[in-house]
Amino acid sequence: MNFFIDTANLDQIKEANDLGILDGVTTNPSLMAKEGIKGEEAIMEHYKTICSIVDGPVSAEVISTDFDGIIAEGKKLAKIHDNIVVKVPMIKDGIKAIKWFTENEINTNCTLVFSAGQAILAAKAGATFLSPFIGRIDDSNWDGVELIKQIVDIYNTQGYPTAVLAASIRNPLHIVKCAEAGADVCTCPLDSILGLLKHPLTDIGLAKFLEDAKSLK
Ligand code: G3P
Repeated sequence: MNFFIDTANLDQIKEANDLGILDGVTTNPSLMAKEGIKGEEAIMEHYKTICSIVDGPVSAEVISTDFDGIIAEGKKLAKIHDNIVVKVPMIKDGIKAIKWFTENEINTNCTLVFSAGQAILAAKAGATFLSPFIGRIDDSNWDGVELIKQIVDIYNTQGYPTAVLAASIRNPLHIVKCAEAGADVCTCPLDSILGLLKHPLTDIGLAKFLEDAKSLK
């Protein structure tokens, strides 16, 4: 399973990249707004900077909701860098646009996915990545990981090449469960990635080793 970081924060992206286990980045308009990035030029520049830090797919989301607008925006985003993946919402014009991008060899990430039916449509349109939002599903009293399992099963049965990118990750256990469920990618906040490091027995064991190591000097 590949690891993407789900943020537009450059320090966090650098920190995750320095771990040596980062495969890509996803952003969305909320994450860009959180960093205070305003205006088309600044947004384009920010994506360029992210692409210079991480050597892997970088999802940049369109904010248009009509076919022509999505295509125009996506074309501009795709020109920033070869690693840019155009993130398109799961709406009717979004599906049409994903099909167009597929035919024009522009990689896409279909976002705001909450059902297996939506996942089938995105795969049929040729989406490169599919982003089911598992944390938001859990928040609404359904099981996000179960949806990942269902989509992975369908894609395997049907032979769809679209990569399942588990998004809206809230904690390290989500990452473990998504790996178990067969997600191709998990896009995570930095805290959840670092949370994977933690185990009290590791801390206790290391303290003991370091204490005993004093007698070796
Ligand atoms: O990038 C999309 C997704 O990961 C959003 O997560 O935490 O806002 O539900 P969240």
